[in-house]
Amino acid sequence: MKRTHTCGELNKEWIGKEVTLSGWVNGNRDHGELTFIDLRDKEGITQLVFNPQVDKELHWAGKQLRNEYVISLRGVVSLRPEGTANPKLSTGDIEILVKELEVLNKSLVSPFEITDDAKISEDLRLTYRYLDLRRPLMQKNFRFRHRVSQLVRKFLDKQGFIEIETPVLTKSTPEGARDYLVPSRLSPGKFYALPQSPQLFKQILMVAGVEKYFQIVRCFRDEDLRRDRQPEHTQIDLEMSFIEPEDIFALIEEMISGLFEEMLKIKIKIPFPRISYYEAIDRFGTDRPDMRFEMELVDVTGIVKKSDFEIFKEVINKGGLVKGVKADGCGDFSIRQLDDLRKFALGLGAKGLVWFKIGQDRVSSPVAKFFKPSVIEELSGVMAAKKGDLLLFIADKPPVVHNYLAELRLHLAGKLNLTAAGKYNFSWIIDFPLLEWNEEENRFQARHHPFTAPQDEDLSLLFNEPGRVRAKAYDLVLNGVEIGGGSIRIHKPELQKKVFKALKMDQNRIKEKFGFLLDALEYGAPPHGGIALGLDRLLMLMLSLPTIRDVIAFPKTQKAACLMTGAPDQVEASQLRELGLTTKR
Ligand code: AMO
Ligand code: AMP
Repeated sequence: MKRTHTCGELNKEWIGKEVTLSGWVNGNRDHGELTFIDLRDKEGITQLVFNPQVDKELHWAGKQLRNEYVISLRGVVSLRPEGTANPKLSTGDIEILVKELEVLNKSLVSPFEITDDAKISEDLRLTYRYLDLRRPLMQKNFRFRHRVSQLVRKFLDKQGFIEIETPVLTKSTPEGARDYLVPSRLSPGKFYALPQSPQLFKQILMVAGVEKYFQIVRCFRDEDLRRDRQPEHTQIDLEMSFIEPEDIFALIEEMISGLFEEMLKIKIKIPFPRISYYEAIDRFGTDRPDMRFEMELVDVTGIVKKSDFEIFKEVINKGGLVKGVKADGCGDFSIRQLDDLRKFALGLGAKGLVWFKIGQDRVSSPVAKFFKPSVIEELSGVMAAKKGDLLLFIADKPPVVHNYLAELRLHLAGKLNLTAAGKYNFSWIIDFPLLEWNEEENRFQARHHPFTAPQDEDLSLLFNEPGRVRAKAYDLVLNGVEIGGGSIRIHKPELQKKVFKALKMDQNRIKEKFGFLLDALEYGAPPHGGIALGLDRLLMLMLSLPTIRDVIAFPKTQKAACLMTGAPDQVEASQLRELGLTTKR
C-alpha cells in the first residue's frame, strides 16, 4: 500500500475520498464499540476509526495495535461527529474509517511516551535518541535547523562565497582548547588532531586566492561541557580577503536579520551596537553581556572610601574595587530573600554581599551604622536609586568583582523575569586585548589565537606593555551568549614573527607547529579576516531552548559520552597493537 497523503494534510475537503496513510501508532482508545487510533508521521496526527459494523475482523486487528507499531491503512475520510472535532489538530475535523490494515512492524513498549509534554530524564532521552527524536518538538527543531542551514548557504552563495571542505584529520597546534587526538597507524607514535576550527586552512585558502570562503563545519574541542558547549559543535565559518571588520559586521548583520525575518518573522534592528571589551566589563562585568535588561554595574569605590566600613576600606587599600548593582523595586525583599542572594554570592566565591534597602522614609542595611547619611545619599545618587529599590555591593579584586556581579546580575534578572523568551538583543564586542596573562606559564598568551592582528596604533606597545595591545578581534553576543567570534588576521610574515616573539614562543616550536602558515604568508598573502558563528548556540536561542543538546541530533553527556552508542569505548588489543599503543587504566 503506497501512501497517498501524510498524517498532517487531510481536512474537510477530502471527505468521502479513499486514502492510504502510513505511520506510527500514537495512541489507542477503546470506546467499547469503536476503536480510535491516533496515527503519527512527520507531518502530524490523523485519527483512525475501526468500526465492527464495517468489518469485525479488522476491528479486532485495530484493538491489538499498540503504541509505536508501524502500520499502513486504506480508508475513507469522514467528518467527525458533532462535538468530537479536535481544534488542536490540523486534521481535527476528520477521521479515517479504516477498510484495510497492514502491520508493517511491531514495537516494544517505549520507555517513554512520544509526546512533548512528558517529563523524561535526559539520560533516557539520549539512550533512546531515536524515540526522543520522534517527538514533534524535536522534529520541529531539526527541520528548523535544516532550514537555517539552507538559508545560510543560499545567502552566502549569493554574496559570492564558495563552500570548501577542510580536513578533519589534521595537525595539533598549541594555544586554544585541548585537542582530540587520533593515532596514526602508518606513522607509529604520531597523531592527527581533530580540528578545533578550520582556522589555519581558511587563512591558507585566502593565500590560495579564494577570497570568499565559507563552510558549515564540525569543530572538536576537548573542554568541560555546559549547556551551550559540546565536544563537537558546528560553526558557520567564513573568511574574506581585502576587508575591514565593518565589512564582516555588515555581512553578518544582514545574514542574521534575514534569518530572523524568514524563520521567526521578527525584525531585528541593525546595525547591532558595538561595545568595547573594556566598556562591557566595566558596565556588565563580562564580555558577553546580556543587555535585554539594564542593571549596570556602578563603581562606588570613591564613595565608600569615605565610610567607616573597614571591610570595604581594607579591600580598597589592597588595590581592590567596590561595585554595585541596583535591583529596581526590590526594596521590599524579605530577610530570607536577601539571605538567598547572599548565599548565591557566597556560592560563587564572594566573601560577602552588602545590601541597602531604599525604604520610604529611611535606608536600611546591616552595615548602615558605618555609613554617614551624606555618604548614603551620595551612594544612592550615583546608583540612581529610587524609593523601593535594593542596592547590592561586592568588594574584591577587580576581575573578581566583575565576575561575581555579572553572575548576580543574571541571577536577579532570572528571578525578576527580565529575560522572558522572545526578546533578542545583539551586540558586537570589539577592541579585545590581544594577549592575556597566563599565571601558570608566567607569560602572555593569545586571547583569541596567535594569528589575530593587533590594532595598528597599539603596535608600539607589543613589547613594552603587551597587556594593553588591542586586537582587531570581535565577538557577536546574543542575549548574554557568545554566538560568534572572529578577527582580522596577520598577513605579513614579519608581524606574525613579532607576535610569536611577544608570546615568548620558542622559534623551533613555531617552525614545527606553524611553519606551513609562515611559509604561506611569504608568498603574497592578501589582507584577510573572518568570523565563525556557533550554529548550535544560535539555534538554541532562536528556538528558546534550554541547551544546545536539543538542536544536535546525537549529542554527548556532561562526561562527553554518547549514551546510545556507548562511545567512547575500549577497543580490541589488536587495534592498539596495530597503532603501536598501550593503555594504562
Ligand atoms: P571561536 O573559538 O570563538 O572562534 O568559536 C566560534 C563560535 O563557535 C561557538 N563555539 C561552541 N559552540 C558549542 N560548543 C563549543 N564547545 C563551542 N566552542 C565554540 C561559539 C563561538 O563564538 N576560528 C575561530 C573563528 C575565527 O577567528 O574566524 C573560532 O573558532 O559560538
Ligand atoms: P562579616 O564581618 O564577615 O560578617 O561581614 C559584614 C558584612 O560585610 C556582611 O554583610 C558581609 O556579607 C559583608 N562583606 C564581607 N566581605 C565583603 C566583600 N568582600 N564584599 C561585599 N560584602 C562583604
